[in-house]
Amino acid sequence: AWSNVPMGPPDPILGVSEAFRACKNPNKVNLGVGAYRDDNNKPYVLPCVKKAEKILQNMELNKEYLPQGGMPEFCKQAAKFGFGDDAEIIKNGRLATVQSLSGSGALKLGLELIKYHYDGPKSVYVSNPTWGNHIQMTKYAYLDVKKYKYYDSKTLGLDFKGLMDDISKAPEKSVFIFHGCAHNPTGVDPSHVQWDEISALCKKKNIFPFFDLAYQGFASGDDENDAYSLRKFVKDGHLVMFAQSFAKNMGLYGERIGAIHILTESKEQCTKVLSQLKILVRSQYSSPPVSGARIVTKVLEDPVLKNDWRKEFKQMADRMKNARVALKTNLKKEGSTRNWDHITNQIGMFCFSGLDEKQVDKLVTEHHVYLTKNGRISIGGLNSKNVEYVAHCMHLVTK
Ligand code: LMR
Repeated sequence: AWSNVPMGPPDPILGVSEAFRACKNPNKVNLGVGAYRDDNNKPYVLPCVKKAEKILQNMELNKEYLPQGGMPEFCKQAAKFGFGDDAEIIKNGRLATVQSLSGSGALKLGLELIKYHYDGPKSVYVSNPTWGNHIQMTKYAYLDVKKYKYYDSKTLGLDFKGLMDDISKAPEKSVFIFHGCAHNPTGVDPSHVQWDEISALCKKKNIFPFFDLAYQGFASGDDENDAYSLRKFVKDGHLVMFAQSFAKNMGLYGERIGAIHILTESKEQCTKVLSQLKILVRSQYSSPPVSGARIVTKVLEDPVLKNDWRKEFKQMADRMKNARVALKTNLKKEGSTRNWDHITNQIGMFCFSGLDEKQVDKLVTEHHVYLTKNGRISIGGLNSKNVEYVAHCMHLVTK
């Protein structure tokens, strides 16, 4: 039955974690997958999550199935967090929200909805470069992958002109996936003014914006600021689609909790879209898991816990900003004469270091510092104990 199955390659990101786990060297450092660690290199369960879990445990809740669309209170709270507490689109019933298996599950549902029901071109534009799974998921949804210019490897910054040119050239109603904030892998974002211009051009061209916003609050420490692009597009009258995740900002990685939100033109359209999303859910996994939805809902509904959460994601964001400064400072201390300003100019969980594949290979094989081949560093894996070592090794492979 399976004699013709070819060997599949390891995932470019999750494969790094596998290699790291297998490595026996005591100095090993994992800067591969985007997963936050505390300064002692330990996975971090947020105190607000621990409190919510205690409350939930005492409630002795049952394990009944959730509806296909997920927990209604969760969907409502998730939408408010993404679009703002007073967002008109939530009140007037035009927003279709379905609980998803984190951000990836939201993307999957969104892409499948496009495949089966979108009335525009069946292709999806992704930034060049982008998170590898955008490409893989789009292909597996049998949609064409197209790339738009985004990153300028000469300036290590945004290729704004290229991006605008490619939007201008795209056929009407093309789907564009935008990283709402903290672009993965580059850590390079448009400014607010540039987002305004992107929104205006997309409007003119009738582009369909699909936001992947997996780092709200976690990028800058301010959830409103991190949602700027998404909310600006809504304000400008776009019918947005939004893949939301609570993996990073609430540290709920393995709980697989997120949502897909689709803004429609009317209440009636919204009901129809929801009905199709439910069919997609039922045909894939029937209904979503309950635990993460309960945790998120508890934190978002309780003003004290919500306030704690905001402080806690700000602490994570600040620790990462400090880790960037420490990496740059230590590279200078090592005597590196390269310009490392991009380390602190970029934002969020990732630094696109500019290291090439050969240099990355040396870091991995000679120094046991693990990162993806494209030179992306997961800042969440740096801490006060390993940053000197990482800087030392980065200098050795780049001098
Ligand atoms: C990453 O880019 O490392 C994260 O988004 C985790 C993942 O699933 O790839």
